[in-house]
Amino acid sequence: MKNRKIRWGIIGLGSIANKFATDLATIKNAELVAVASRNQEKAHEFAKKYNSKKAYNSYEALAKDVEVDAVYIATPHSFHKEHSILCLQHKKAVLCEKPFAMNLEEVEEMIAVAKENNVLLMEALWTYFLPHYIYVLDLVKSEKFGEVLKLEADFGFSREFDNNSRLFKKEVGGGSLLDIGIYPIFAALSTLGKPNSIDANATFFDNGADSECNMTFNYKDIKAVLKSTIVEDMATEAIFTCEKGIIKINTMFHMPTTVTIIEKGKEETIDFNYKTIGYNFETEHFNNLLRENKKESNIMTFEFSKNLIKTLDSVREIIGLEY
Ligand SMILES: NC(=O)c1ccc[n+]([C@@H]2O[C@H](COP(=O)([O-])OP(=O)(O)OC[C@H]3O[C@@H](n4cnc5c(N)ncnc54)[C@H](OP(=O)(O)O)[C@@H]3O)[C@@H](O)[C@H]2O)c1
Repeated sequence: MKNRKIRWGIIGLGSIANKFATDLATIKNAELVAVASRNQEKAHEFAKKYNSKKAYNSYEALAKDVEVDAVYIATPHSFHKEHSILCLQHKKAVLCEKPFAMNLEEVEEMIAVAKENNVLLMEALWTYFLPHYIYVLDLVKSEKFGEVLKLEADFGFSREFDNNSRLFKKEVGGGSLLDIGIYPIFAALSTLGKPNSIDANATFFDNGADSECNMTFNYKDIKAVLKSTIVEDMATEAIFTCEKGIIKINTMFHMPTTVTIIEKGKEETIDFNYKTIGYNFETEHFNNLLRENKKESNIMTFEFSKNLIKTLDSVREIIGLEY
């Protein structure tokens, strides 16, 4: 059915779950029906805030709920595989936060379970679905300003070390690379494809999580210079220097923002008039896939997710980051 209402569940009620639920409420023919936390009171509060009729204190109970069509996995990275598989085995369509899992082996296992159970699975890399990013992808791919000569992309902010926070906790996949380094890497892979080779170096906290990671992706004639850091405030921009102009995705390039084109000394900034936080775009795409009975996204394909995690694995091997 073209307009079938998609009934959503959310697992792991932290920071991103709140943003997802806020944007879900703006989408037509979609409804939050169940949420699950390890803590009953937290589940009740979240359910009340976002009008979910059910609030579970167990992730498994949500996975078993027959009224749920799709589940958004919003737990820390190290649980993505376990929680995705739990839902897939109960025939739920799964939209799982980035990074899809901790390594390629885990991602391949998740994809295999999705295929065995004949259900939809997608990595929630929201940037791929944002209008300003699609606009830039089109500009780069159409070579409107000629070939790309260089890409510079960073993602950085300064945060006090806190071993209670998911961001720094090595046991749950903490560190800059998997959390935010994935975005500059995504910018390179989605526009320039797979690099021929990678150079990388990193600095680490005492607990072994990476505080900063510098990467150079070497392509045939050009380089992508990428960086992630959780100890330094950075512009968090993606700048494509092309033969006949510069395409700049402005501050916080991975989320709703503006794009500046610099051509022949003239600058023009395009405003995409975003009205939401930006999670509705990936969710609407996912809802449509579900309505069309698709098992894989044509945008965030399994192949792309595998290349993304393979690249993260390669960088980790170079910098000596093991989980
Ligand atoms: N796409 C984006 O823009 C974006 C932005 C931020 C984060 N993310 C991704 O989303 C995931 C969650 O990030 P977040 O910032 O929302 O994290 P968060 O605020 O720490 O929330 C994670 C939630 O996971 C659940 N959880 C289950 N086991 C846990 C454990 N052992 N330790 C901590 N939490 C546990 C908790 O929910 P309950 O207590 O309710 O069970 C917790 O609230 C990460 O993989 C991250 O990369 C994506």
